[in-house]
Amino acid sequence: MFASFVILLFCWVSVSHSAPAPCENLLRPVENLSFQHVKGSWALVSVSAADPKYLEKLKSGNSGSGFFANYTDTAEISFTRISGDGESCQYMQTNITLDGSGFRDPQLNITMTLLHSSCVDCIVVQLEEIPGKPLRLYLFSRRREVDANEMEEFKAQAKCLNMSEHHVMDPTTALCPHAISGNAAASTEASTTA
Ligand SMILES: *[C@@H]1O[C@H](CO)[C@@H](O)[C@H](O)[C@H]1NC(C)=O
Ligand SMILES: *[C@@H]1O[C@H](CO)[C@@H](O)[C@H](O)[C@H]1NC(C)=O
Ligand SMILES: *[C@@H]1O[C@H](CO)[C@@H](O)[C@H](O)[C@H]1NC(C)=O
Ligand SMILES: *[C@@H]1O[C@H](CO)[C@@H](O)[C@H](O)[C@H]1NC(C)=O
Ligand SMILES: *[C@@H]1O[C@H](CO)[C@@H](O)[C@H](O)[C@H]1NC(C)=O
Repeated sequence: MFASFVILLFCWVSVSHSAPAPCENLLRPVENLSFQHVKGSWALVSVSAADPKYLEKLKSGNSGSGFFANYTDTAEISFTRISGDGESCQYMQTNITLDGSGFRDPQLNITMTLLHSSCVDCIVVQLEEIPGKPLRLYLFSRRREVDANEMEEFKAQAKCLNMSEHHVMDPTTALCPHAISGNAAASTEASTTA
């Protein structure tokens, strides 16, 4: 009885050693990230957080999106975070520089790493304030909602980062307009009332 348990355990251990660890696979950063990969606008589909209290602030009626634009004269990229609470829209624009698999935002002192996703029109963004301590995981898509498999993959990625809860944005809530036209540099911070 004990012997067969040991054999079983041994087999399990050897199998789990030969198969690639699922989390290792799920948390692979993208490679050779370019502006072409991220440019334009993205709707926030789902958020997961290490601290579930963060998710409590997100209610139905909230919306989120992101917008990447380049400048004509520098390698810097403009990243605008756009959030709506149903009454007004907040815009926060910062300059970033892409590295191989994400970017650092020097103004906010955060690191964003893009993780591989099987969803072709999504970006999965891992946010860290302190290196090695993922705070939040965001699923952005060109679509307002993703299919069940894509959501399952995102949930599995969050679980690998010890984030179990997640919030799905209401896809029927209108997104805030970009409110940014022409050169991205024209807008540092703006606020409109819907
Ligand atoms: C990334 O770029 C390097 C060097 O240009 C290349 O060797 C590598 O295959 C690329 N990786 C992917 C996933 O495209
Ligand atoms: C900005 O992006 C466009 C394509 O969207 C590209 O043609 C152009 O070369 C880019 N400019 C810089 C400075 O990278
Ligand atoms: C972002 O970069 C542009 C172009 O280099 C510059 O004009 C603008 O002032 C920068 N904005 C911030 C907030 O650093
Ligand atoms: C940015 O964050 C790192 C890591 O938490 C910290 O060591 C550093 O002092 C911060 N820099 C600024 C300018 O806040
Ligand atoms: C998740 O939690 C486990 C157990 O507490 C820990 O060993 C692991 O390093 C954590 N993973 C991350 C990505 O924080």
